[in-house]
Amino acid sequence: MNSELIEEFRNRFQKEPEHVFFCPGRVNLIGEHIDYNGGGVMPCAISRGTFLAVSKNIDKRFRFQCLDFPETADLHLQESYSKTGKQWFNYPLGVMNHFIQSGYNLSGLDMLFSGNLPVGAGLSSSASIEVLTAFALNELYQFNISLIDLALLSKKVENEFMGVNCGIMDQFAVAMGKKEKAILLDCDTMDYEYIPFETAGYSLVIINTNKKRELVGSKYNERFAECGAALRLLKQKLNVENLCAVTPAEFEMNRHLVTDPVLQKRALHVVNENARVKDAAIALQTADMETFGKLMFTSHQSLKELYEVTGKELDTIIEFCKNYADCIGARMTGAGFGGCAIALVKKKSVADFTARLSRHYQDEIGYSPEIVASHAEDGAKEIRF
Ligand code: GLA
Repeated sequence: MNSELIEEFRNRFQKEPEHVFFCPGRVNLIGEHIDYNGGGVMPCAISRGTFLAVSKNIDKRFRFQCLDFPETADLHLQESYSKTGKQWFNYPLGVMNHFIQSGYNLSGLDMLFSGNLPVGAGLSSSASIEVLTAFALNELYQFNISLIDLALLSKKVENEFMGVNCGIMDQFAVAMGKKEKAILLDCDTMDYEYIPFETAGYSLVIINTNKKRELVGSKYNERFAECGAALRLLKQKLNVENLCAVTPAEFEMNRHLVTDPVLQKRALHVVNENARVKDAAIALQTADMETFGKLMFTSHQSLKELYEVTGKELDTIIEFCKNYADCIGARMTGAGFGGCAIALVKKKSVADFTARLSRHYQDEIGYSPEIVASHAEDGAKEIRF
């Protein structure tokens, strides 16, 4: 990957790249659709991600190129930018716009991006390229911004420049990931801790549905709005700032306030999922993988029935996992509506699991999934070459 990227940088820009940076993607182990409700999440960074080869230029231009997409941009350095169309370079452009607007001086840059994350598959390719750009600018100009602040500003870009009301989970995970650790992050206080993610005899398997996802952003924003509406109703009685500040018991006593049955289902998922994350953290800390796995299955069920963000592809995978003896837990990961599922599978059975699930999925859905064994990895970093 690196040698091809560097070679191609030389060909395209007729000079050497000064730096190569990398930022991973992520999976979320548990705690879905609750980061924007002030809840706890448990993601980890993965080995796949996005690379950037970059050099400063003296002609005051931002040049964006990518090995994976034909579209390029060559823009004058100016005081602000806005999103144009749906091209990939809006993500790094949004980050650069944020830096410029915040008063940081940038020079011209020649940039060549490349990634090995499936795009739009729920593994946070967007957060990966955003944090990658922010991380690179911070290193190139020695701005001394902390990793957490780089994650926060990248989220702001996703919210304001790209128009998706995402929470902080993805940007935090890809910036702050650690090898063999899951991150337990409280999205209300931003307190976090690393929990050993030593899966003992199990592999963390990622299953990409390969479903073409459309309108994910708008459905996502719809869930965001529904949670806000449920919170407003609960606030008539409860003095809370977000849905995850409500305990399952408090919700039971006050659910009549949420008169709309759809909003009630959404809130019920959020409140219970937050409680599951707490249980899951205890299970991981005590290396009780069976309990952790069961919580994954329950989380999926809730995302299917209450939050309604799964779909036939993801549900087919999880049903298969439930019936596969050497799989102790599985669930969708990320925003849903397609994208990826994760499963904990006994190491010795991964090859058999992969073959059988591929066949079953192909029969049920009509095309193949992509299945890879993965593990928790470090977050954004510079690559020496
Ligand atoms: C997307 C968002 C995250 C989070 C998940 C669902 O990945 O970017 O902020 O809300 O969906 O848990």
